[in-house]
Amino acid sequence: MDHFLYKTGVLHAEDVPLAEIAAQVGTPFYVYSTATLTRHFRLFQEALAGTNHLVCFAVKALSNVAVLRVLAGLGAGMDVVSGGEYRRARAAGVPGDRIVFSGVGKTRDEMALVLSEGIRQINVESLEELHVLSEVAHGLGATAPIALRVNPDVDAKTHEKIATGRKEDKFGVPIARAREIYAQAAHLPGIRVVGVDVHIGSQLTDLAPFEMAFTKIADLTRELRADGHTITRLDLGGGLGIPYTRSNETPPLPLDYGAMIRRVLGDLDVEIEIEPGRLIAGNAGLLVASVIYTKPGEGRDFLILDAAMNDLIRPAMYGAHHDIVPVLEAQAATEQRPVDIVGPVCESGDTFAKARPMPPLDAGALVAFRSAGAYGAVMSSEYNTRPLIPEVLVDGDQFAVIRARPTFDEILARDTLPTWLAS
Ligand code: LLP
Repeated sequence: MDHFLYKTGVLHAEDVPLAEIAAQVGTPFYVYSTATLTRHFRLFQEALAGTNHLVCFAVKALSNVAVLRVLAGLGAGMDVVSGGEYRRARAAGVPGDRIVFSGVGKTRDEMALVLSEGIRQINVESLEELHVLSEVAHGLGATAPIALRVNPDVDAKTHEKIATGRKEDKFGVPIARAREIYAQAAHLPGIRVVGVDVHIGSQLTDLAPFEMAFTKIADLTRELRADGHTITRLDLGGGLGIPYTRSNETPPLPLDYGAMIRRVLGDLDVEIEIEPGRLIAGNAGLLVASVIYTKPGEGRDFLILDAAMNDLIRPAMYGAHHDIVPVLEAQAATEQRPVDIVGPVCESGDTFAKARPMPPLDAGALVAFRSAGAYGAVMSSEYNTRPLIPEVLVDGDQFAVIRARPTFDEILARDTLPTWLAS
């Protein structure tokens, strides 16, 4: 459920008509609903209620500092994958002891940053990284609390590009090698083992792969404890999928996910960490665009929008489906025919949807892409020198720009001429 509904004939974000935001901010823009973010975060809190747990929002899904501040205010921890994301979480007011640091390629600088400013846990992904971390921590006179990310060799049955838990994927260490690596970790200076970490992929629409992975983690935890390690936390990653269409998708509910976690891990007496991104942010955001032209094509017409693949890459990159609806309800109600919905970028891949039934829309009409809150703005670029588009946060009847559209002067000022070309 989200808070983007038609009221008085216009699609609203909570109590704000999208047409009003478009008039003030200009299209295209992203808009996020505080009530939806809050609702989705609380679903996880409720799903794990009564257990010792921390819900760490995956900052990569939607990293605007204002959004992080909303979630931090609800008690969220954060999962970050770079020094940049760590800085965002801190700028949003999240203390270091509520931030976990994941990722296969942490640099010494990033390690030093989080160790000096405070970190709850570093999810180590290789023996090589473990040794570097030990060196950096020891050099700083610090101790790094670590969990080893294990690769359980489980197929998440999701899109090829976002499955991360099969043995051929670059993530984690093979679960069969985990005990040997923990044994080394126990003797390394600057390292304190606190837990085990796993993340098998994103947009999972079935609980079975999660259960398979968590069962392996539970067994490993018992073995590690028998080996003498203190395992007090299990980080189960993120990955729970969302419905991208209104009709035929019914991914598992957070409540069922929580029940499965209790069933599989309940007797281990550990603190549970989860790292959801998409389920919290995905359906809490829209991308709003205007029609520039309708252009007759061979067979099908093109609806050419002012948003493009640089603003929302998911359809071009993963063949992802996003519902696209007119902002005016009267337009939504008229007879539909199939069109190709495209952006202005100079690639045929700049196609949001092929043969999508749409009502007739004239130039200037507003449309909204649903489910665009996660992996939308964060994956955008300035390809074709199209400025990054604004982000807007709504809370009830108020809205504010939380990232402004850069001016062309700002964009051009980032390029500099070397001396030999300057005169
Ligand atoms: N934890 C780790 C270690 C991750 O790598 C990810 C996502 C998450 C948590 C959050 O997963 P979520 O709950 O959002 O599924 N750009 C792709 C998705 C990439 C996901 C990367 N890792 C997309 O647009 O579908």
